[in-house]
Amino acid sequence: MINGTTKVVGIIGNPVGHSFSPAMFNAAFKSMNMNYVYVPFKVEKENLKYAIRGAKAFGIQGLNVTIPHKQKVINELDKFDIMANLIGAVNTIKFKEGKSKGYNTDCVGAVRAIKEVSDLKDKNVVIVGAGGAARAISFQLAIEGVNSINMINRSPKKAKSLIYDIKTLLSADFTDNSKLDELTIDFSHIDITFKYGSLDELPKSLADADILIDTTPVGMHPNLNDEPIATYDIMHSDLIVNDIVYNPLETNLLKEAKKIGATIIYGTKMLLYQGAENFKIWTGEEAPLDIMEKSILNSIK
Ligand code: ATR
Repeated sequence: MINGTTKVVGIIGNPVGHSFSPAMFNAAFKSMNMNYVYVPFKVEKENLKYAIRGAKAFGIQGLNVTIPHKQKVINELDKFDIMANLIGAVNTIKFKEGKSKGYNTDCVGAVRAIKEVSDLKDKNVVIVGAGGAARAISFQLAIEGVNSINMINRSPKKAKSLIYDIKTLLSADFTDNSKLDELTIDFSHIDITFKYGSLDELPKSLADADILIDTTPVGMHPNLNDEPIATYDIMHSDLIVNDIVYNPLETNLLKEAKKIGATIIYGTKMLLYQGAENFKIWTGEEAPLDIMEKSILNSIK
C-alpha cells in the first residue's frame, strides 16, 4: 500500500503506455515486501530537463529512460558510468543525495542471457543490425573477451561506421572526463577482430559463427509474418541464436533456429536481466527473477 514512506521509481519516455516495466517492477517490489512504486511518466522532448530536475526535487529514487530520451538525457546528468559513456545512451538513472548518475544496463542484460547458455571467451559472434542495441551489445561482448564480432546490416555503410566508432572508443582515454565515475573496466586486454558486411554475406558469416544476435525489429509485433533475417538452412546445430525482439516470444527467426537444433535465447531474457540490474542499482537487493519473468510473459499474453 502506498503511504508516507513509499519510495518512487519509474520510466520516462514517449510513448510509455506500452511498457512492460511497471507491471514487472511492481510485482517484484510486492513479492519482496518493499515499499516502492514504479510509475510511467510520459515526457515530451522539450520537457526532459525539467523532468530530471523535477525527479530530483521530488526525491524520486531512480528512473528508466526510453525512446526518445536515451541519448539526450546524458546532458542532464551529474555523473555516468563507463558503459553509458561508451554506448552514448542511458537507460537507467539513480538519484542519491541530490545527484544523478546514469547507467546503461541494456548491454549487461543481453550478454547475461547469452552467458547463461555459453561462455563468451573466444567466440565468434554475428550481430545483425547496426543501431543502438547493436552498439550496446558490441561493447559488452568486447569486454567479455569474444574473438570476433561481424556486424551484418541492411546498409553496410552504417555497420562500417559503427565498427569504426566502437574500435576508436575502446582505445580512447577517458581519464579527463569529470562526469565519469571511476574506471572499473580494464580495456587493455581487449583483442578482438571486427568485421562488417551486408545481409548477402550472412550465410557465409554464419558458417563459422558460434552466436547470432538479431538486433533488428524484423518480426516484431504486429509484423508477425516478416521473413526472418536467417532461415534454418544457413544455420547449424551448434549455433546460439538470440533475437532481441520479445513480442512475440518466439519469433520466426527462433522458429527457424529450432528447426536445425540450434540453441535459442528469447528476447525476454534481455528485458529480464536489464530489469534485474536496474533493481539492484536502485535498491541494493538481488531481483526476484522468477516473479519478474512471469510478469513479462503475462504482459506478452
Ligand atoms: P535500435 O536503436 O533499437 O537498435 P535502430 O537504430 O532502429 O534500433 O536499428 C535497427 C537496425 O535494424 C538498423 O541497423 C536497421 O538497418 P539500417 O541501418 O539499414 O536501417 C535494421 N533494420 C530495420 N528494419 C530492418 C529490416 N526490415 N530488415 C533488415 N534490417 C532492418
